[in-house]
Amino acid sequence: MSGIAIIGGTGLTSLPGLSISGETLVSTPFGDTSAALIKGRLDNQEIMFLARHGAEHTIPPHRVNYRANIWALKEAGADYMIAVNAVGGINPSLQPGQLVIPDQIIDYTYAREMTFFDDEGSPVTHVDFTEPYCHELRNRLIDAADKNGIGLAAGGTYGATQGPRLETTAEIRRMAQDGCDIVGMTGMPEAVLARELECCYASISVIANLAAGLGEGEITMAEIEKYIAAGMGEVRSLLKTVISQI
Ligand code: HPA
Repeated sequence: MSGIAIIGGTGLTSLPGLSISGETLVSTPFGDTSAALIKGRLDNQEIMFLARHGAEHTIPPHRVNYRANIWALKEAGADYMIAVNAVGGINPSLQPGQLVIPDQIIDYTYAREMTFFDDEGSPVTHVDFTEPYCHELRNRLIDAADKNGIGLAAGGTYGATQGPRLETTAEIRRMAQDGCDIVGMTGMPEAVLARELECCYASISVIANLAAGLGEGEITMAEIEKYIAAGMGEVRSLLKTVISQI
């Protein structure tokens, strides 16, 4: 049986309904994971759960040890990884509270540890990243949305920014011209690290706000938290449906 892991982002530091069988603090060759790796059963299915920003939501996106997190999950047997990411909406068709299963990425991050193939003396390795997300898992999520009557966006380009600040209006204008539909701070290097370890990785992105300059006035944390909370019910339905199939 293939292991499945959920990487929880903002608004998902725990999974209600998960009956926990073990919690392990993991040290990896790349350092410690963001939080204890939780193993348990959700609707009678074995899963793993990791809170990307720490159990208390204290680790900002640029400080997440993405390599340790992905390494530890793979070591623990996770071949499938579903990431939950809070994002801003750039494409005008997307509204706060809505879900997106992105199919492409543009990476604007910098100064992050973004590869496992970093050893001097090892052969140079270039993984294929033409399709950055796992086709099979994306399809399962999209089918699950159909089954649950959830009207999500079944594709879109995720622009990954460095953070922790939000973007300027001009940056979002540029990202829109580049073809980004959504903007978030945690999509990379998580996706490529999963690819390097040959995991099947996909994202459920939750629109928390209209991106900078597209809504009225400033973007507040209160607004972000409100809309993420609004989208979490649908996130949980998708997770349950997909987990029951793998
Ligand atoms: N920009 C970047 N990351 C985000 C946003 C945003 O507008 N909203 C939630 N995460």
